[in-house]
This record gives sequence, structure tokens and C-alpha cells, in this order.
Amino acid sequence: MKPIYIIEHLEPELGPWCMFEYERIAEIVGKDNLWFTNIPQSTKELEALGIVKKESVKTMHLQNTCVLDPEAKELLTPNNVKPYQYLIIGGILGDYPPKKRTTKELTQFVKGADAYHIGKKQFSTDNAVYIVNQIVKGTPFTSIKTKYKISIKVDDIASIDLPYCYPLDNKGNPLMSHKLLHYLKTKEGF
Ligand SMILES: C[S@@+](CC[C@H](N)C(=O)[O-])C[C@H]1O[C@@H](n2cnc3c(N)ncnc32)[C@H](O)[C@@H]1O
Repeated sequence: MKPIYIIEHLEPELGPWCMFEYERIAEIVGKDNLWFTNIPQSTKELEALGIVKKESVKTMHLQNTCVLDPEAKELLTPNNVKPYQYLIIGGILGDYPPKKRTTKELTQFVKGADAYHIGKKQFSTDNAVYIVNQIVKGTPFTSIKTKYKISIKVDDIASIDLPYCYPLDNKGNPLMSHKLLHYLKTKEGF
């Protein structure tokens, strides 16, 4: 049976950056296998992407649950992921240096859940789902090509540094939401 991916939204708002990532997550795992939890005020746009719940995953008491946390001790593998029905990922935007928000705001409150990492470097929420989904499909983390820290050229002078880890496509380009890429390149004030 396919696992359910749960995105526990932990940002104060459901801003454009979160929505671009959430849209890509729905493309990766499909809307029938995706829950968004801890959503006080839902939107039609979010409801088009998956099942939306006001309740936090912290109070749902789900069984066979695993939290993805960069601070966890064990690496997620195609074998150890098998028993889990629910895979929980933080709806947390990247920060640098990482503030360990997953541990502080999520892992410790999901009683009975096991915790795993996918390497020690920070992926965005959508890329964490991409990596976990690859592992669920049988690819070990060590076989997935990644690049730590990328720079996005905005114009001849400016670029934006993103100090996170990115899976690479077969041409060696970092994977990310196309809408987010466009937003970063065109938004004023970066
Ligand atoms: C952008 S990360 C937020 C990380 C946050 N800065 C922290 O230090 O916890 C968003 C989510 O993706 C998942 N994630 C990202 N990188 C991960 C890693 N290396 N191992 C496990 N989970 C990861 C976690 O569930 C995390 O809450």
C-alpha cells in the first residue's frame, strides 16, 4: 500500500513560497496520497492539492508513523521505510543556519512516531518529499545525486544564493518548483 505523505504546516502564513512547494508535492506524490495538517484557514487552492485538515498531526495519534527530521539518528532506507503508513514532513521554510525547527516544533510532539533523516543537509519541503518518494520506490539515498548550495542568476549583476541541498536531474540541474524559480527571479526586494 502506498504511504500517506503528511505535510504539517508550521509557518504562520500560507504564502506563495509555501504554495509553490505544496503544488510540486502534489505533482510528486498525487493528491490522493497527500494530507496538509495544522491548517487553520484553508483555501480552494490548497484543497485542490490534497486532503486539508485543521487538526495538527500532533493530536491525531496515528499508528505506523515516521517523521522526517534532519536531526534524527538513522537514515531512511528502502527497507526501513516499508512498515510506515504515514510519512510526516515539516511544512517549514528553509532557514540558514538551520534552527532545528523540525525537532523543536514537530518530532518531539508526535508520540509513538519514529524519526529518520535523509542526509544531514537541509532540503526544502518539496525536495524532502521528492527524496522520500524515491526511497519509497526503492532507490537508496546514496544513489540520488544532490548538490549542496546553489546560486540562481537573476540578471547580469544579481544572483540569489540558496544554502540548501537539491536533488539533481539527469542533466545535473537542481530540481525545484518552476513557479518558485520564476517568483525568485522576478520578485523585487531579494
Ligand atoms: C526546509 S526543511 C526545514 C528544516 C528546518 N530548518 C530544521 O532545521 O528543522 C522542511 C522539512 O523537510 C524535511 N527535511 C528537510 N531536510 C531533511 C533531512 N536532511 N532529513 C530529514 N528531513 C528533512 C523535514 O521534515 C523538514 O521539517
